[in-house]
Amino acid sequence: MNNLCFKALIVEENPDGNFSASIKQKHIDELPQGDVIIKVAYSCLNYKDYLSFAGNKGITKKYPHTPGIDASGIVVSSQNSKFKEGDKVLVTGYDLGMNTSGAFAEYIRVPAEWIVPLPDNLTLKESMIYGTAGFTDALAIMKFQSIGITSNSGKILVTGATGAVGTLAISILKKLGYTIIASTGKPQMHDFLRKIGASEIISRSDVVDETGRPLLKRRWKAVIETVGGKTLDSVIRATDNSGAIAVIGNRTGDVFTTSIYPFILRGITLFGIETAETEMPQRLEIWQKLANEWKINDFESIYKEVSLNEIIPELEKMKDGTQAKKIIVNLER
Ligand SMILES: NC(=O)c1ccc[n+]([C@@H]2O[C@H](COP(=O)([O-])OP(=O)(O)OC[C@H]3O[C@@H](n4cnc5c(N)ncnc54)[C@H](OP(=O)(O)O)[C@@H]3O)[C@@H](O)[C@H]2O)c1
Repeated sequence: MNNLCFKALIVEENPDGNFSASIKQKHIDELPQGDVIIKVAYSCLNYKDYLSFAGNKGITKKYPHTPGIDASGIVVSSQNSKFKEGDKVLVTGYDLGMNTSGAFAEYIRVPAEWIVPLPDNLTLKESMIYGTAGFTDALAIMKFQSIGITSNSGKILVTGATGAVGTLAISILKKLGYTIIASTGKPQMHDFLRKIGASEIISRSDVVDETGRPLLKRRWKAVIETVGGKTLDSVIRATDNSGAIAVIGNRTGDVFTTSIYPFILRGITLFGIETAETEMPQRLEIWQKLANEWKINDFESIYKEVSLNEIIPELEKMKDGTQAKKIIVNLER
């Protein structure tokens, strides 16, 4: 292990303030402290990875850096009795890929407290088709259920439907029998969205209301909202009585204003989702659900697999929202 060198995506800050990325060799000693070394089998792309790749200092303070917030793989060395060589494991969130060297590399070293044993009935590859995106959706859906929004309650809107969070949301909601409206800016992806479970598809602009009316026609019972800004304001005003909105993303804005009336006249609930720091007992519960009773039926349709050498153009496509489906990275290819 001592002399191990391996391939990693390395993002560097140039003297002119720009950032550049390339695949380079890294030495095992360059990995941060931690109890467990994992040989990464698969990772996947999240918007946060794009931000770290693009030099966003709100996500990653110091460069050179290797992004990648999600990993699945095999333990190759462990100082912690909870894990031993050969164990199949996964890591999502915490500080991985943010200020800790991440999973766009053949090896990571992390604290044992971050590691989830791979559930039976889930492969290393399937766990990264879910990744943080699927885990986030599962947290939101559990919250819907806890406030009584079930598959019989009404339609669920998914915004940013072809993105990682959107695609997994549709797949999991479909498995659970919900009726799904997908909102997308990509007309060429309508067939894909129908295939994975959307029963109605609307454009991004059809969601946004610019009239400012405090209450709009009730169009959905709940929303998986990944876009933010005007989209979030509009979906709140069109949510049915006792409905709920899971605030997940900020692709088009991190500030919104809205009306108080949907809250006091329709009794809606607005809640935020934070996945990175989810406590371990809830993490284990969610991964068990994703591996068993919530396990999606069709993994094959929803992902594209790339190698580490192919990752840079895939990350660049996330900049303007032209990326679609779940992109997984096979570190053994
Ligand atoms: N709260 C949490 O714990 C958590 C966890 C995971 C992700 N997130 C956040 O959730 C968001 C989505 O993440 P992701 O990984 O799914 O990103 P992604 O794969 O890049 O997907 C984002 C999707 O948003 C839509 N979009 C892009 N630009 C848009 C625009 N100008 N107007 C409207 N829609 C636009 C696109 O879908 P269409 O073309 O289909 O409209 C795009 O595919 C990000 O903001 C991310 O930071 C939060």
